[in-house]
Amino acid sequence: MTLAVRGSYDHEEAARHLGSLSEPAYLATAQHFGSAETMRATAAGEREGWVYARRGNPTVGYLEDTVAALEGYQVDAEVSAAVTTTGMAAITLATMPFLSSAVGARPNIVASPACYGSTVMVFDKRYGEERGVGVRWVEDPLSVADWERRIDEDTRFLYAESPSNPTVQLVDIPPLAALARRARIPLIIDATLATPALMRPLALGADIVVHSLTKAAGASGRSMGGAVIARHDLDLRRQPAELAADFAGYLRRGPMRDMGSVLSPFNAWTLLADIRELRSRVDAMSASALRVAEHLAGRGDVVEVFYPGLPSHRTHHLARRDMWLVDSDGPGREAVNRFGFLLGFRPAGGVPAAHGVLDRLRLFWRANNLGQVKSTATIPAIGTHQQIAGDDPVPPDMIRLSVGLEHADDLIEDLDQALTGSGVPGPAEPAADRAE
Ligand SMILES: Cc1ncc(COP(=O)(O)O)c(C=O)c1O
Repeated sequence: MTLAVRGSYDHEEAARHLGSLSEPAYLATAQHFGSAETMRATAAGEREGWVYARRGNPTVGYLEDTVAALEGYQVDAEVSAAVTTTGMAAITLATMPFLSSAVGARPNIVASPACYGSTVMVFDKRYGEERGVGVRWVEDPLSVADWERRIDEDTRFLYAESPSNPTVQLVDIPPLAALARRARIPLIIDATLATPALMRPLALGADIVVHSLTKAAGASGRSMGGAVIARHDLDLRRQPAELAADFAGYLRRGPMRDMGSVLSPFNAWTLLADIRELRSRVDAMSASALRVAEHLAGRGDVVEVFYPGLPSHRTHHLARRDMWLVDSDGPGREAVNRFGFLLGFRPAGGVPAAHGVLDRLRLFWRANNLGQVKSTATIPAIGTHQQIAGDDPVPPDMIRLSVGLEHADDLIEDLDQALTGSGVPGPAEPAADRAE
């Protein structure tokens, strides 16, 4: 995808950097000024520059431009981005400014409960218990009426993950966006699992998108990162004009700069390298994931498979409509559906069987990250979602797979031997001193 490969780094920009073909890594915390006047004018925003790395850094800026271009592709509005230390920092920054008591007491939020464990913790514990925010979880994220009846004049935003981690459920973004527009509050979507290679919620009507760049954007697994991407000129009741005009810019100039969750330029530089190949990587990973999901669904010792590419999945109809490889359509060409790299399955035999299958995997890595070039497997109830296990829709015997770039045949062979117990035992735990 040309936008990802080029970002905002064009021939002119390269000429300013000794012709360097790649964006330079400015591993520096502050900018030197030639005079008091240039320092004053730059700090005042009257002159181009970055001043201090908590306020901005050129390498981080290249990543912000690239992420905004990808997420803003085919969006009928101006779009900008702010990148953050982690995906959770992005989620916190994308939501907290809306809870300001300066615009009214007793705020509440309406959200889908099919969210990543730490997101549930931010909403329930940090906002609900610690700050008195009303947290209203919808019962059925697919029912627009369910969302609608929880909204009142103190509702500050609507929030959903689409597709969700780990049950890979989508929400129907256009009617939710219309609902948010009527209430004049933002619809915020975490689209980490889709990536802009497969779905762009802003193009479907959402106002703000968040991503964990730690996942498929940073697929080599070297850096954590997050992004908040927003359309400009949001029509929001009660919020300051500056916030509504350019939310990501507002974050960079205010909350992010003050609270300090800015991305390291080194991490931005590694993420820039990874994000270049996002489209081709997600294409290949998704094609393999579909093969793995179909294979598992055909096995007698698998009770259930969660993958939006399977017609049996509850949100398959939405995935068919919204998840397709960017730029695969065109004159005389049908868009190519791709359903992402994440899937889950429940082996027959319940929790002990799931633990056994996970233990026997030899090619999949037992690890709690996803979207990586290396395929990973976890049991969310004891791993990624342990904080919320027991009171959420994550089955305790579900194994989550993130399909990487190994050959699909090899992954399938690994799953088959783990399910039947026919493989040779794997090596022992890594030595504690090396694991620490
Ligand atoms: C959908 C989703 N959003 C957000 C996050 C948080 O991202 P990070 O770990 O980069 O903070 C995760 C992490 O697994 C995730 O799966």
